[in-house]
Amino acid sequence: MSKLSIGLLGAGRIGKVHATAIRATPRARLTAVADALPEAATEVAESAGAEVRTIDEIIDADDVDAVFIATPTDMHADLMEQAARAGKAIFCEKPIDLDVDRVRACLSIVEETGVLLMVGFNRRFDPSFHAVRGQIDAGAVGEVEMVNIISRDPEPPPIAYMGRSGGLFRDMTIHDFDIARFLLGEEPVSVSAVGSVLVDAEIGDVPDIDSAAITLVTATGKIAQISNSRRTTYGYDQRIEVHGSRGLVRAGNIHQSTIEVAGDAGFTKPPLMHFFLERYMPAYHAEVKAFVDAVLDGTPSPVTGYDGLRALMLADAALASHEQRRTIDVSP
Ligand SMILES: NC(=O)c1ccc[n+]([C@@H]2O[C@H](COP(=O)([O-])OP(=O)(O)OC[C@H]3O[C@@H](n4cnc5c(N)ncnc54)[C@H](O)[C@@H]3O)[C@@H](O)[C@H]2O)c1
Repeated sequence: MSKLSIGLLGAGRIGKVHATAIRATPRARLTAVADALPEAATEVAESAGAEVRTIDEIIDADDVDAVFIATPTDMHADLMEQAARAGKAIFCEKPIDLDVDRVRACLSIVEETGVLLMVGFNRRFDPSFHAVRGQIDAGAVGEVEMVNIISRDPEPPPIAYMGRSGGLFRDMTIHDFDIARFLLGEEPVSVSAVGSVLVDAEIGDVPDIDSAAITLVTATGKIAQISNSRRTTYGYDQRIEVHGSRGLVRAGNIHQSTIEVAGDAGFTKPPLMHFFLERYMPAYHAEVKAFVDAVLDGTPSPVTGYDGLRALMLADAALASHEQRRTIDVSP
């Protein structure tokens, strides 16, 4: 197989990003696109020289090797099982499902079939975060001791989206839980979290929270702290810092350009990249390449179903901690 033939399930916000990334990946070809909205599927298919098909037609097709699941979250697990049974390699957007038992059942079917599954934790592929991990691996900071993650969105999603999202911890913090595991290099065994409604009272009516602080601790005592907000006045705030026995490594925010303007009020820089589509575009491209390479070269999945399961377990534990005002054990 010289090129991986891919079928895209869901041509919404993130589906469009994946379509663009697939087209930019030399070893991949976008063959077919499905979406409940015909105009959404047609727009993406036409731009890629692909066909519009139904989900079932794509999963059953002999000319499709792999599927990208980019439909709403509540469809992921069913589609993953269907695709695994059809022998397709699977890239699935996060989260796999909002229910841990459903995720476990789904992963056992994927395991039985032996197909490759990659979960869409794109931030691992961000060039800066990837380089932070590289410095840890190279021993630059010695033994990792503390990880700090600041992750703040410029604005909340629509209220209607929040009702189906599973809440801030499962929808938004889930990326930060994954990055915390990625950088700690050890599994967190306890979670304490507090959350508040500080941005918009309507979010409280969903019910959901819009601001949170979370602490994760591993069995050897390594600590990760995450600060989340659904609002900034200054763009997408995505920073990490890893403190170790020999030093620290950190990754800062990315501005819209690198210019600085100086005057009598001091130096100013352009605003930050506004949100995830701009900030993480290189990461979305790199994760697609990693998936395609893994399938074609027969190497292990770069982000496994277990990674998806653990991030969801940490999210559930954070919610329980916030609601019950106590530390929750999440030993694997
Ligand atoms: N990794 C990331 O950074 C990231 C970013 C955004 C969204 N996501 C995840 O991606 C998934 C999709 O999110 P989105 O923001 O793109 O949503 P979206 O609503 O923009 O897109 C979903 C698409 O699925 C289509 N769809 C809905 N029901 C369907 C059906 N029965 N059959 C076929 N198509 C159907 C919709 O018409 C829509 O075009 C969610 O699980 C979300 O958590 C991940």
